[in-house]
Order: sequence, then structure tokens, then C-alpha cells
Amino acid sequence: MRDEQHEPSVDAAAAAPAVAAPAQAAPEPDGDPRGVWSTSVRRGPDGSLSVGGIDVRELAAEHGTPAYVLDEADLRARARGYADAFAAAFGPEAGMAGADVYYAGKAFLSVAVARWVHEEGLRVDTATGGELAVALRAGVPGEAIGLHGNNKSDAELATALEHGVGRIVVDSLPEIEKVAGAARRLGVRAPVLVRVTTGVHAGGHEFIATAHEDQKFGLSLASGAAAKALEEILARPELELLGLHSHIGSQILDLAGFEVAARAVLGLRADVARRSGHLMPEIDLGGGYGISYTGHDGVPPTPAEIAATLAGAVRRACADLGTPVPRISVEPGRSIVGPSALTLYTVGTVKEVALDDGGRRTYVSVDGGMSDNIRPALYQAEYTAALASRAPAAEVVRSRVVGKHCESGDIVVHNVALPADVADGDLLAVPATGAYGRSMASNYNMVPRPPVLAVRDGRARVLVRRETVEDLLALDEG
Ligand code: LLP
Repeated sequence: MRDEQHEPSVDAAAAAPAVAAPAQAAPEPDGDPRGVWSTSVRRGPDGSLSVGGIDVRELAAEHGTPAYVLDEADLRARARGYADAFAAAFGPEAGMAGADVYYAGKAFLSVAVARWVHEEGLRVDTATGGELAVALRAGVPGEAIGLHGNNKSDAELATALEHGVGRIVVDSLPEIEKVAGAARRLGVRAPVLVRVTTGVHAGGHEFIATAHEDQKFGLSLASGAAAKALEEILARPELELLGLHSHIGSQILDLAGFEVAARAVLGLRADVARRSGHLMPEIDLGGGYGISYTGHDGVPPTPAEIAATLAGAVRRACADLGTPVPRISVEPGRSIVGPSALTLYTVGTVKEVALDDGGRRTYVSVDGGMSDNIRPALYQAEYTAALASRAPAAEVVRSRVVGKHCESGDIVVHNVALPADVADGDLLAVPATGAYGRSMASNYNMVPRPPVLAVRDGRARVLVRRETVEDLLALDEG
């Protein structure tokens, strides 16, 4: 996958993998939390899939398709897994100063999900007033919420401070005055972190470290902008400087970049302590831990591996710098909610086309597409798919799953081996769609967005209802 945050493509069809790439089938569900399926997905004796103890045919009959199906127990276990792993690796027994895990709500946020992750020991990271409103509606206490954003409005800052958010991550020099002004007006002190760009960018399998950044987030370490911001914040009585923040990218499988970034921000923390006497109590190392989308794209790190790696990096850097270790926070989104959901589609038109290489490809059209999952079109993201409603009765063939939108780049799965007998009316499941699926969904072609169904112990409930064409028309003033 390409660097997702910086190089969106406009022509996914043209950039799709070479036609000759071998098509691979989705791995079978096996309950492995590192796999592509959420842990409760099973294939029954008649070949149909179940999730959360419910047969997907029952879900489709009751709620329709397309639908995002979120495995509640799986999501809770992932959230709890992070809370426990970070508590262990950063506890006093480990010689550390503690850690907080913030769930990055941009991956997917609903009132129930915010409540669940908070019940499992996480805090909630929000990036807009909308995400903040969902977290507050869920009853997450203000002090357990963080607010990010490179262009926060005065209204967003005021709401955050009125609810006593635990931290606001300052992203630019002009924002210092904005946050201080909002705090002054409310007669409070605003707890802030400063987002620092260290020059480390990661994504996919490798990271790169460069001296210059040409992107919108944060304050650059190399140019001195971060140091300047810290100086200004320390001079402002309305602001309480908690620490530094670094986020290096997303869908990262190789953790090496985190050590480089941690060293950079810990070095700045030590410099500021030397110069001003203020030793910042906290460092946030961001999110970005990768997951498996196809089962053939690498093994994602576990929360325990991530926590141990980060703890080792922080311990070593602080020992070298001669500074006490700070409290650490992280902000995973994708790796908590991504594998917990699948999208259930109904197959419509199936069409075989001849390819330039002499081979053939079967185009399987489903009842959703780029409006419910923009990631393949936007980032050339790879997914896999499986026949979900029955056992196959034919060998697999090279297939492409496409949506119903008026655009040839409307691809759900570029290249996958599906049974040759997949036909109109079959259910297809695409795993690992929990992150950045519903949260980036659109109404392109006036297609209503699918519901999010939570399944657990044989019961389903609607977390976010399906949109209707009436909902869309209700916005149209005529
Ligand atoms: N913290 C900050 C400051 C972030 O910018 C992000 C993601 C996260 C945490 C959570 O990262 P995660 O653990 O989910 O990778 N729409 C893209 C991903 C954009 C990520 C933006 N920031 C995608 O669909 O791949």
C-alpha cells in the first residue's frame, strides 16, 4: 500500500495491481485475533458463515445488505488487550510511569463503541467537534477525552474546555492564542500537548526519516517551530503544558519507526527541561499499528509486542538522555476496530471478461461499493472476500468484486479467488472493514449508507441505522 495519508490517487482502476497477479482466496476463519476475520466468525456445516453466533443469512434477512457487522466481543477484547498490555509494560514494576491508551475515534465512532472502549479501560481520541459530541453522548468523562485537529474552530475548543477534556493537542503556532483565548473566556486552564513532526513517516512495511516535511500536521522539530511553540506555551498562564505528541503514520507493521520518533520527542523534552526547568510529564506516541486485510499481507504486531517495543524504546532513550521516563499515551484506531467488523453484501450481476494476457476475470457486482468502502479506490487498499451464504459448488476463479457506482474505479476487492458458481443472490463477506469504512462512507450516487449492526452471543442490534433515500431527500430543500 502506498503512503496513505499523503498521496491519494484519483484513478484507482489504472493503478490496480497487474492483471497477472495470482488471485488468492480469503483465509478460512479460525478465531485467531491476528487473522482477517473477527474471532467469532465461523463456517457452519452447510458452508455459511456466522458471526457473534448468528448466521449471516439471518442477519441479511432481518437487516438487509449491505451492512457492516461488528463483533462486539472481538472489539471489546482488542480494546482490553491494549489496556492490559500497556498497563503491564508501563507499570511501576516495569520501572515506568504509566500509560494511557486512547481509542482513535476517526476509525469508527458511535455512542455504543465509545462506551464499550471506555468500559474496557481506554480513553477516547477525537479529531473534530462531531467526534467529541459522540464521545460525550456516550458518557465518556471529559478528562478521558483528547481533542486533535489541525484547524480546530473556536466553537470546538470552547466545547472541549467546557467539558473539561483531558488534553488538547496543539497543532500550530496560531492555535496557541486560540486555545489560550478560549481558556481565558471560560476561566479555566487548558491542558495541552504539542504535536511535533519528527520527520519520521511510516506506513505499509517500512518507515522513512527525512529532515523536511511538506504536510499540514504539527510543528516541525527540525525547523525549530516545535521549540518555539513550547516556549510560547510556557509563557501563557492559561495553558498547562502536559507534553509532546508524535504520530508517524498508519497501517504500520514494522515498529522500528516508533523508536526513532520516540527518541526525537524525548530529546526535545530533555532540551526543554534543561532550558526552562519544565519537565513535561507525558509523551504521546500516536497510533498507526497495522492489521491484516487479506491474510497474505504480513503478520500484525500484538498489543503486547507493541507495548514492549515502545517501553524498551522509551526506557533506552531516557537512560541515554538522563531524564526520568514520562507517562506514555498511544492512539490506536484501525487495530482496535478494523478486524472487528465485516461487510455483508448481496451479489447481483456476475460477468466474465477476457483479459489482455489471454486469461479471464469474473466481475462480481455487489449492492454497495465505493460509498461504503472508499479505501480501495483512494489508497489501492487490498481486501479479500468470501462466499458467505453457502458452500461453493465449483473451483475458484480469478475475480474482482465491484460496487454499483457509476465509476470504473468502484472496486471493493481488486483481486480474489472466488468460487466460479458465485451468483445473483449469494451473500459475500468482506472482512476487516471496521476501520475507515463507515467513518469515510459517502452518499455518492445518492446511495444511502449501510447500518452498523453489533452482534454478540447470538443477538444482533442496530448501532447505527441504515440511511434511507428519505433521509437524503430530507436534506434537499427543493
Ligand atoms: N492519532 C492521530 C493523530 C492520527 O492522525 C491517526 C490517524 C490515529 C491516531 C489513528 O491511526 P490508526 O491507528 O487508525 O492507524 N483513512 C486512512 C487512515 C488515516 C489515518 C489518519 N490518522 C485509511 O483508511 O487507511
